This record gives sequence, structure tokens and C-alpha cells, in this order.
Amino acid sequence: MNTLKHLAIIMDGNGRWAKQKGKMRSQGHKQGIHTVRNITTWCAKNHISYLSLYAFSTENWNRPKNEIDFLMKLLKQYLQKERKTYLDNDIKFLAIGNIEAFSNPLKQMIQNLQEDTAKNSALTQILALNYGAKDEIARACKKIIQNDNHDKNINMNELIAANLDTKGIPDVDLLIRTGGEMRLSNFLLWQISYAELFFTPTLWPDFTPDELSNIIKDFKTRSRTFGSL
Ligand code: IPE
Ligand code: IPE
Ligand code: MG
Repeated sequence: MNTLKHLAIIMDGNGRWAKQKGKMRSQGHKQGIHTVRNITTWCAKNHISYLSLYAFSTENWNRPKNEIDFLMKLLKQYLQKERKTYLDNDIKFLAIGNIEAFSNPLKQMIQNLQEDTAKNSALTQILALNYGAKDEIARACKKIIQNDNHDKNINMNELIAANLDTKGIPDVDLLIRTGGEMRLSNFLLWQISYAELFFTPTLWPDFTPDELSNIIKDFKTRSRTFGSL
């Protein structure tokens, strides 16, 4: 049976969920927050150590300004309102992505929640914000070049991993994408090199702990050979 330490989810389908119900796209994002809370607390109670959630990509800046503004407002509300969820459930919060691009108040809120939950240990929830895997790898390379004490015998794989935003976090075991698209959309490319993949047509606001539990059951029985036999 495979063990699941690190689960990653591409939370897709909020807009289509809203459209199906004749609502504005923003209502889909709002509803998606409930799923984030349900899935995160379920993972904390079910002994998953790391949960990575793709919330906003480096490409999502290409959306209409009103949607971006709404998402940033929602993110700020989330970081404030959900503080209690993190504290009550012993969940540590960690943001990955190019956080520098955000406004100062938002950066401060991210930092505050990280600090306030730093000692929690049931689950680490990693929220990918202004995240792109290519951008993350490029930023890691830049850090390596800027730091000149290079040892010729250094293990390059380890050096790159240690300069990614996910430094110290084990690679992803299982990656799920909701919303039915069969692509990775620039999420965690380095860390998913040997992840098991699962695509579900369920739209993110409709995704439940029950469905997650069934996907994990399937994951546990898959044969993971890592190139061996
Ligand atoms: C995912 O849902 C959430 C974000 C990217 C912020 P979408 O907004 O991509 O929803 P669809 O794919 O258009 O339905
Ligand atoms: C991926 O969803 C990004 C997030 C879930 C945050 P998108 O809806 O932005 O991706 P594409 O456009 O389908 O590739
Ligand atoms: Mg989408």
C-alpha cells in the first residue's frame, strides 16, 4: 500500500460551476472557498502531512481586471476569516509562488498567517499564489547563480530542490485536478516528477471529502515502481 504524504490539487472549475447555475463567475470562486476549508480540515484529520492547493497562477493575471480584483479581495478575506480554521485544526499555512508581486497589505497578511501558524503540525497547507512552476525554477536558478560559494561536487538535483519555494517538503505523491481538463497548467513541475495523477470531471465547488477519500483508495493500490521493477 502506498503512503500519502503530499497531496496536491489543481482546484479548477469554479467559473463553470457558477455558469451552470446561472450565477456570476465570482460566485463560483466564493463557493470554492467552502471546498478549500472542507478538504483542508479533512486532510488534517486524516494524517496527510502536506496539502498543496493551486489558487492563483502566474498566467491568471491574463484574466479580466474585475475577476483579478475579486480574487485578490477574496484572498484577503480568506486569510483573515480562516485564521480560526488553521488554529483550531493545528494547520500550518505556507504560501508558495512569487509573493513579492503582491501589494504590501496582502504580503503582510500572508506573512502574519505564516507566523501565527508556524508551530502547528497536524497538516501543512501550501497555498500556491502567483505561482508558476517555470517561474519557481527560474527564481531558484537565479538564487543559485547569485550565491557564489559553489562546490564542484555538489549534487545539482539537491541544490535545485533546496532553492525551490517547496524547500524541505517531500515531492508530491498524488496530484488531483478537478474540472475535467487534462493538463498541469504550470503547477509544481519539478515536484510532481513521480506523482500519481488523477483527473476528475467534478467542478471544484462540488468536490467532497468522500470523492477525495475514494481517489486516495485508488492511489493506495497503484503500483509505484519509480523506474525500478
Ligand atoms: C479555478 O477555477 C480557480 C482559479 C483559477 C482562480 P476557474 O476560474 O479556472 O474556473 P473555470 O475553469 O473557468 O471553470
Ligand atoms: C489552473 O487553472 C490554475 C489554478 C487552478 C489556480 P486555470 O483555469 O487557470 O488553467 P487553464 O487555463 O485551464 O490551463
Ligand atoms: Mg479553469
